[in-house]
Amino acid sequence: MADTGVVETFLQRIEKVDGGADSQEVAASLGVDHQVIVGAVKSLQTLGDVISAELRSSKHWELTEEGTEIAEQGSHEARVFNSIPLEGLPQAELMKLSFGKIGFSKAMSNKWIRVDKSHDGGPRIFRTVESIHDQVREKLLLAKRGDAARLDEKEKNELKKRKLLAEVTVKSYWITKGNSFSTTVTKQETELTPEMIASGSWKEKKFKPYNFEAMGVAPDCGHLHPLMKVRTQFRQIFLEMGFSEMPTNNFIESSFWNFDSLFQPQQHPARDQHDTFFLSDPSLAHHFPMDYLERVKKVHSEGGYGSQGYKYDWKMEEAQKNILRTHTTAVSARMLYKLAQQEKFTPVKYFSIDRVFRNETLDATHLAEFHQIEGVVADYGLTLGDLMGVLHQFFTKLGITKLRFKPAYNPYTEPSMEVFSYHEGLKKWVEVGNSGVFRPEMLLPMGLPEDVSVIAWGLSLERPTMIKYGINNIRELVGHKVNLQMVYDSPICRLDS
Ligand code: PHE
Repeated sequence: MADTGVVETFLQRIEKVDGGADSQEVAASLGVDHQVIVGAVKSLQTLGDVISAELRSSKHWELTEEGTEIAEQGSHEARVFNSIPLEGLPQAELMKLSFGKIGFSKAMSNKWIRVDKSHDGGPRIFRTVESIHDQVREKLLLAKRGDAARLDEKEKNELKKRKLLAEVTVKSYWITKGNSFSTTVTKQETELTPEMIASGSWKEKKFKPYNFEAMGVAPDCGHLHPLMKVRTQFRQIFLEMGFSEMPTNNFIESSFWNFDSLFQPQQHPARDQHDTFFLSDPSLAHHFPMDYLERVKKVHSEGGYGSQGYKYDWKMEEAQKNILRTHTTAVSARMLYKLAQQEKFTPVKYFSIDRVFRNETLDATHLAEFHQIEGVVADYGLTLGDLMGVLHQFFTKLGITKLRFKPAYNPYTEPSMEVFSYHEGLKKWVEVGNSGVFRPEMLLPMGLPEDVSVIAWGLSLERPTMIKYGINNIRELVGHKVNLQMVYDSPICRLDS
């Protein structure tokens, strides 16, 4: 903020003018440097509409140092003329004068003086006219008074060539009063404090707007949050196994990709307000691959591909509803649809690790958002044996070797298996993931070949992280109660030890 004193004096000056004022003139009349006024303008601009300032540039003629000297004392040629007495002056003497050399040649060409070489004591200078008219000086005096406009271009250019006059560009602001003009500046608050809220004083205060363009301070070191440390390890495992990462950068998803494409019926309880967060604005999605959407509608309502479907009235509006994705399997569905659009099918291994959202009752181990880890393999003729094999491989890399599978149900996989591992510390079997073979009702409408199967599994990132770092309450790991010291103190994650 510029000096409040200057700012207020400046505002008082603006208050008095009708229309507007030029910042250069204001600076001159206040006797301060123009930069001081520029500073005041800049700081007032951050306060909202107190003043409006329009940047302008204007050109004007200014006398150079030499030009100023001539305006005061006369042109060199006039001074030469004036130094010559009636009886003349030896040329050598004239040349000793500071203005002698230039003045002599100019006065000669003006025919004001002559040189007489017939004298004994060397060449002597005499006047040739009685009086002279010092036009150069007069023109410069005009320019000095700010009347340069009365000189024509030729005259100005001539003086410019003689380096007596220069054209300068001046930048200034044209300042007018803004809608909230006032001569006093109230300091803007930068922070909303609990005291302001308690006393209600925030209502009267003005707040400084955030500058989102400001560069932050670059931190010179940092620490990954434990969840991110564990994610790094899981990512590493997938990469070692030849999987590539799916793009999961969309938290908002349509019900179509989150549920319908996965053969999850529209009346399924998960598609309820109590389990899923729906968006109010924009509430609906509008762009879908329509031929595929028609096949999805058909397999739900009438069946097909050897399935009898669910036999219900499938509604477009239900599929259009925007939600916060409830699982990353929505991304897997998009990727498998994309894969099916390839001219020729190629086997793929995909994974993702990202955030999902569920409208759940919060407790020590559940929040409304968490991370899912998901693996997907698509190839010809994959079986449940392949799924068990890849799960063994995956969990072995995590240091978990004892696995058990329990039949389960997912709308989009058949068969489905919950994955349990024996926890040495807890001395019991704990659930570590969910898995299955994607149903033909999901894959065939996408256009994947009939002999291609897709196996997949998913688990949460939070659970292994809490176990690994000995955290019992999820609120110590995620949310506003997280102690940053915990983040600082958590060692790097080694999943296999
Ligand atoms: N989407 C499942 C979940 O949210 C996990 C899963 C992924 C299950 C892939 C089977 C296959 O729990």
